[in-house]
Amino acid sequence: MRILVTAGPTREAIDAVRFLSNKSTGRMGYALAEAAVAAGHDVVLVSGPVALTPPDGLLEFVPVVSAADMADAVKRRAPDCGMVIMCAAVADYTPAHPVDRKMKKSDGNLTLELKRTEDILKTLGQNKPAGQILIGFAAETDDLEQYARSKLAAKNLDWIAANDVSRPDRGFAAGTNAVALFAADGRRFDIPLQSKDAVARRMLGILLPPSGR
Ligand code: CTP
Repeated sequence: MRILVTAGPTREAIDAVRFLSNKSTGRMGYALAEAAVAAGHDVVLVSGPVALTPPDGLLEFVPVVSAADMADAVKRRAPDCGMVIMCAAVADYTPAHPVDRKMKKSDGNLTLELKRTEDILKTLGQNKPAGQILIGFAAETDDLEQYARSKLAAKNLDWIAANDVSRPDRGFAAGTNAVALFAADGRRFDIPLQSKDAVARRMLGILLPPSGR
């Protein structure tokens, strides 16, 4: 099966040398891509800026910087994929008026106007080809199952992988993770705390239909 995985943060330019980003290291997405390659799949990895080396054996590696770049790269490739896993921590907002030179400071405060980025996963859900398995991630600090299930429904997903990011041993920038997987048909699987590589293998075992394993 052809599997598209996104990973890492995005960077949203404020000016020529400054950006808004987040704590994502890309480790969970890279672990998913590596596990999918090891299971014999054709894997496309679309990655924001991270300090990791892409796994060997990818069909394609697509480095991107901003949420808009990621949206272009993903929307172009997703229609040909049997599974899409949106693991990237895509910025929800981007500076409305990026400056192409380095801004000079002044004595007063600075207010940045931010505008919404495209919700890539929502767009994919609205245009999902028959048979494609679409998976999102949810990072939550409270009411994990309720928020995760509402994202699953709102974005027309088949699965959502939810992280409790209020705990330091899982989610953003941790070496380990624990994930609750919620399916559109109501099933729930809990993958207990372990290395992100091991979580990735367990996730794929659950997400892939028996014929696609
Ligand atoms: N995502 C996306 N495009 C965006 C933002 C997020 O595709 N512009 C994807 C992420 O890759 C992830 C999922 O959407 O799979 C996260 O859902 P989201 O509703 O954005 O979660 P939060 O950013 O945590 O939103 P909220 O503040 O509403 O909880």
